[in-house]
Amino acid sequence: MSAAAEPAAAADPAEVVIRRLRAEHAGEALTVQRAAFVDEARRYRTSEIPPLRETLAELRADIDDPAVIPLGAWLGSRLVGSVRGRVSADRMELARLAVAPDTRGRGIARQLVTALLAEVPARVRVVWLVAGGDSEANLAFYRRVGFRPVGERSDVAGVRLVVLEKPVEPGKPVDSTRVVAAG
Ligand SMILES: CC(C)(COP(=O)(O)OP(=O)(O)OC[C@H]1O[C@@H](n2cnc3c(N)ncnc32)[C@H](O)[C@@H]1OP(=O)(O)O)[C@@H](O)C(=O)NCCC(=O)NCCS
Repeated sequence: MSAAAEPAAAADPAEVVIRRLRAEHAGEALTVQRAAFVDEARRYRTSEIPPLRETLAELRADIDDPAVIPLGAWLGSRLVGSVRGRVSADRMELARLAVAPDTRGRGIARQLVTALLAEVPARVRVVWLVAGGDSEANLAFYRRVGFRPVGERSDVAGVRLVVLEKPVEPGKPVDSTRVVAAG
């Protein structure tokens, strides 16, 4: 993985580059998010899940929000994945992790999560997220990178969600030793 403020001029299209999403990326990010979350919508038999209901204006507002850390993954010039960290007081929500269907299984989500955890502000003590209760592969992935289930809730579509948390110890790197940057 390499992180950079701007993409290299002649980026290797095979190399994933993680960098901040900016307002001009909002359209592409919404396209990737919608393509990614169709799988979850089909799993739960509803298109009303929040990542699919989100509008371009809402996504753009998140990118512009100083309390949000929006990251994208690029393969060459193509945006293929994204994730957002939403900071509130001493907690950060990891939200909207999405990877384009044809680029899955090569570690892009892992790199996005690793990069986001490396950006956690010093005041944050807990990183949390919700995941679909029937999304076994997602839940297993989050467990492997140090998240533990702490409760359940339902989203607006009535989908059962598991709430997972990962504590952040002051002075220690937040990314677990199992989270490694894949090349
Ligand atoms: C979940 C998602 C982001 C994973 O993206 P990805 O780039 O393919 O994931 P990675 O290649 O980084 O794999 C991450 C881990 O999950 C595992 N994994 C990924 N997809 C899997 C699948 N379909 N079945 C089983 N395991 C899977 C990988 O083996 C890997 O495990 P490891 O890191 O211990 O080796 C992607 O499938 C997606 O966008 N899904 C739809 C949206 C979604 O569900 N987002 C999460 C909401 S909580």
